[in-house]
This record gives sequence, structure tokens and C-alpha cells, in this order.
Amino acid sequence: MAGRFWCIGKSMALKVSRRGSIPPFIVMDVLRAANERAAEGHDVVHLEVGQPSTGAPSRVLEAAKAAIDTDILGYTDALGLPELRQGLAGHYEDTHGITIDAGRIVLTVGSSGAFLLGFLSAFEAGDRVALASPGYPAYRNILSALGVEAVNFLVGAETNFQPTPALLDRIEGVIDGLIVTSPCNPTGTMVNKVELASLVDYCRERRIRLISDEIYHGITYGEAAETVQDLYLAGRKAEAMEAVPDEFIDEMALLGPADRIRERYKAWEDCGITGITVSSSQPEALELMADLAGSRANV
Ligand SMILES: Cc1ncc(COP(=O)(O)O)c(C=O)c1O
Repeated sequence: MAGRFWCIGKSMALKVSRRGSIPPFIVMDVLRAANERAAEGHDVVHLEVGQPSTGAPSRVLEAAKAAIDTDILGYTDALGLPELRQGLAGHYEDTHGITIDAGRIVLTVGSSGAFLLGFLSAFEAGDRVALASPGYPAYRNILSALGVEAVNFLVGAETNFQPTPALLDRIEGVIDGLIVTSPCNPTGTMVNKVELASLVDYCRERRIRLISDEIYHGITYGEAAETVQDLYLAGRKAEAMEAVPDEFIDEMALLGPADRIRERYKAWEDCGITGITVSSSQPEALELMADLAGSRANV
């Protein structure tokens, strides 16, 4: 169970970390002021934060109530309940017709938790991440807290308030990441599949990490929102194909840890390879490869 931590300083003048000095998310200040006015009895129309206009679905409410009554509380797997991750993979299958390994899905507390983990795993302090403006402002706050530079670039009606390769080309200096939000907050605009593919290609060619915020998928009217996942999978296939000349591998680089071997094998398998020739001085690597590839392997 989680413990309690007390942090007691010797003097009153304790240091405050510089990275905590990020600009506030102003909408929260507006919300507080609005709530204060409401508490004083004023009539307030809230337009500051986007709130759902309905409650949670009844099946979710019932399941939550049943869990409170019957479940023994405890830790879940750090990456989230396996059944829920599997269910989310199923959602991608049903909605987008793509097969996603549930092992690639990580559950977090809100998307802000996912940003924090995603940014931590993708960027070093000092890296530069491009953000379209107008856009969701809190990306900048989270990036700044991690010492990552948020590089704003303006988008307008001529590009449907979304980034394009041409706009990215105009950014001065190297960028390490790009965040795409479709549907976007606050403009509500989306990128279509062709536009998204052009951004994916742009980023892949320049080794720029693309973060796709798909939080508003499902709140669309008319056109459905595109996920970056099938483009990602197509890209992985293309990359793996490049790494598999003539469908055969003679690869000493398989000396990595077991997970890496499994991951590479999966990528090759996704390409529909028919045979693999592997040489390695590590017997465990060869054994694992033989296990994975069965009769397809010439080890
Ligand atoms: C585009 C976008 N991404 C992420 C978030 C944050 O979502 P969460 O509350 O799940 O952290 C918001 C919230 O308004 C948003 O508009």
C-alpha cells in the first residue's frame, strides 16, 4: 500500500524548483473565479472549460457501483487492467479495422498522465517540440515542466488550422517532436487521412517524434477521425521491409535482449516474410529465433 511521506525542512526558506515555475493553465483560474462568483449567488454561464453535457454511460455507472460493492481494492498491473487494454485494442479493430497488440496500450489517469509519460520517454531536456497555435495550451506547460522547449507555430484558415509539412519547414532550427490534435481543441478542425499521412511521412523522414492526441475521437460529426495507428503500422511494415532484403536476413545484430528479438521478429512477421536466415554467436538468441520462426527459420 502507498505510504505517507512527510517532507520537513530545517528552515522556513526552502528552495522551490525552477521547473515548477511554469505558466498557469489560465482556464483553471477563470473557472475558480467563476465558481467563486457562483458561490456568492451570482448567475454564471460557464463557457471556460469544455465539460461533458451528459453523465457517464449507464453500463459504466453500474459496473463502477458493482466494483465498489464487491471488489477487493488493490493494485492493478502498472500498465493497466489487461482486460481493459484488450478491450481498447478491440475498439481499434471495430472502429478502424486495425489490429493493435494490447501490449502496446498503456492506461493512464487522463490523457495528461499519458503526455507526461510519453514526453518523458520521447524527449530529453532541451529537445524542441512543435505545437500548432491556436492549440490546446497545456502541452506547453507539461513540456516546459520537463525542460523541453515548446516551439509554437501559427496555423490559420488556409490550412484548416492544422499543421502541414510546408508550415513545419518554416520553423527555424531542428525540431525533435510534433503534436497533432485531430479533432483539435479549440478549433474543432480535423486532418484527413492524406494530410495525416503527409505529416507522418514528414516526421519519419526527419526522425521527428510525432505525438497524436486523439482524445476527441468519437466526438465528430459527418467525417470520422483518422487514427495515426494504421499509418504507424504501415510505416513499421515499410521500415521492417527495408530491413529484410529479399525476404532473408543474415543478421548479426540479433544479439539483443529477448524482448528486442521478439519485437523485430513480430515486425518481420507483419511483413509476411517467408523465411529468415539468422546467424548469431549467442545460442540463446538462436534458440529464441528458432522458437519464434519455427520452420521458417534457417538458424
Ligand atoms: C486536446 C486535449 N488534449 C488533452 C486534454 C486533457 O485531457 P485530460 O483531462 O484527460 O488530461 C484536453 C482537455 O481539455 C484537450 O482539449
